[in-house]
Amino acid sequence: MTVYLNGEFMPRAEARVPAMDRGFLFGDGAYEVVPVYSRRPFRLEEHLRRLERTLEAIRLPDPLERSEWSKLVLEVIARNAPEDQSVYVQVSRGADMSKRNHAFPEGVAPTVFVMSEPLHTPPPDQIANGVGAISAADFRWLRCDLKTVSLLGNCLLRQLAVDAGCAETILLRDGFLTEGAASNIFVVREGVLAAPPRSHLMLTGITYDVVLELAVRHGMAHEVREILESELRRADEIWITSSTKEVLPVTALDGKPVGAGRPGPLFARMYGWYQQFKTEVMRRGR
Ligand code: PDD
Repeated sequence: MTVYLNGEFMPRAEARVPAMDRGFLFGDGAYEVVPVYSRRPFRLEEHLRRLERTLEAIRLPDPLERSEWSKLVLEVIARNAPEDQSVYVQVSRGADMSKRNHAFPEGVAPTVFVMSEPLHTPPPDQIANGVGAISAADFRWLRCDLKTVSLLGNCLLRQLAVDAGCAETILLRDGFLTEGAASNIFVVREGVLAAPPRSHLMLTGITYDVVLELAVRHGMAHEVREILESELRRADEIWITSSTKEVLPVTALDGKPVGAGRPGPLFARMYGWYQQFKTEVMRRGR
């Protein structure tokens, strides 16, 4: 497994950053996860645009031009064997070797790290039967629209699901659905798909956009609006979306069946469209 760190390619086990790196000390950095199908990164421009947006919002000067990022991501893909990959890109505010200080250091170069892992999309039994999820209060900060490496809140929340033998934690803030610990959430009620609107309380997923585009293209009734906790609990279907999970049905929430307790008919349609899109578009790099 070959990774890129600050200008060099090396085996992942050999990649080292100083203990003074602000990514390590403060979780001070931004990241992206880009799915790669048949060696082609899917929506790389959109991922890089989101990275630029996060870097700008956290006031971390972007160390590379968009074209340099593209080149780097393609180089990492080329140096790794799997046809389908998940490319991880991280920028931290670098290591100030002189002191630990919350305020930003001056004259410190950011740390740039890119790695690739095999892309593991959900196994067929999860698509056929769905997964379990739990709900929890969303106690994260108020800039969940930024893809930062300060992920302790997300990690604690995801672990709650793992402890309960579930795949994801669905988050509720002030009685409204926000997202999953590492995914976006869609609900279906009486034949209509609904998704929470973009806001500072959730990360707008690249996959979220794809699912909404597919709903438009194929004429599936859908709404983008605030979703109440009561609507989540009465949903006929709940879906999880992310770059690595694609679209996945949730068939139990907090131990109770969602709808009939089986993946629903709208999921079956969306999953079909998504797989078709993957074959016809993503794998061809369009
Ligand atoms: N996470 N919301 C959160 C909090 C996420 O962490 C993610 C993805 C998403 C979905 O975004 P996208 O569709 O662009 O992958 C929403 C990635 C996969 C991760 O942290 O590994």
